[in-house]
Amino acid sequence: MTKHVLVLPGDGIGPEIVTEAVKVLGTLNLDIEIDSALIGGAAVDATGNPLPDETLEKARNADAILLGAVGGPKWDGNAMEQRPEKGLLGIRSQLELFANLRPAILYPQLAEASTLKPEVVSGLDILIVRELTGGIYFGQPRGIRTLDNGEREGYNTYVYSESEIRRIGRQAFEAAQKRGKRLCSIDKSNVLEVTVLWKEVMDELAKEYPDVELSHMLVDNAAMQLVRAPKQFDVMVTGNMFGDILSDAAAMLTGSIGMLPSASLDENGKGMYEPCHGSAPDIAGQGKANPLATILSVAMMLRYSLNEIAAADRIEQAVEKVLDQGLRTADIMSEGCKLVSTEEMGAAVVAAL
Ligand code: IPM
Ligand code: MG
Repeated sequence: MTKHVLVLPGDGIGPEIVTEAVKVLGTLNLDIEIDSALIGGAAVDATGNPLPDETLEKARNADAILLGAVGGPKWDGNAMEQRPEKGLLGIRSQLELFANLRPAILYPQLAEASTLKPEVVSGLDILIVRELTGGIYFGQPRGIRTLDNGEREGYNTYVYSESEIRRIGRQAFEAAQKRGKRLCSIDKSNVLEVTVLWKEVMDELAKEYPDVELSHMLVDNAAMQLVRAPKQFDVMVTGNMFGDILSDAAAMLTGSIGMLPSASLDENGKGMYEPCHGSAPDIAGQGKANPLATILSVAMMLRYSLNEIAAADRIEQAVEKVLDQGLRTADIMSEGCKLVSTEEMGAAVVAAL
């Protein structure tokens, strides 16, 4: 049966990297139909809405979604509702893509590209499971209000229900079962009640997964441990905002955030796939962006949503091969390697396939 993939290029380098990823997908000769739609700043410009109804409708009907990136200085002055990021947050929340999987893997070919010592990062393979549709990103009430004394006050609400914690916890335990069977839950339970509950629910769940070893760590320590001794982690599970921050830190251990894919899944395995990095407006349109995170996101899409495991493996092997060939975009460039453009990198992966 034909599978339907919706492509959302977005802003900045989004269209360039997605173009290469779509070429890679096309090379596999699978029964996949590709449609595209607007999101983010591109959608604001065309329709005044960062997540047009048409886009949401297409996304609901697709088997999987591939997203580039959203945002840029052009829209920085916009009101919150008219910001490109609202499109991304909106689609995550509307489709209930609560489970965000962000693997951080160090390719041996890129050991030199990391700012950390090779012995600290070599062989690194961790998975961050980030809750994506709740927490302080979505909690109500929120806003900026004027107090009686005339001073303004900004406020957000950090809230998680038990069921929200339980469903992301299950995803994390199940992911750990398929990997090293160690799960570290990250909280701030020495200060925040919401994460006291988080911790309790994780402990409850642990009883159902006796083969997984659960530990807990405070988020500030986790940030430190990630740069001190990152290989101590197998799977980390945490809320929306802590996961946002820790996944950027983890990404950089691998040399470049330009290498890291992500999957955002709903309860049934339907998902949206995107690189972990942003829209990098400073290099947009210059052919400098690294398309590998988006290409690797296609591999995750084939594995998690389209049940094309062999094809996913092939993409990952092709990426290894181009790295072995010494081809590098600027973000992962090191001595003795060949600097290539976004398009050349995409073409090299297609050739390797
Ligand atoms: C990410 C991004 C987004 C987030 C932004 C663009 C809204 O940083 O996917 O990590 O904070 O979730
Ligand atoms: Mg982020």
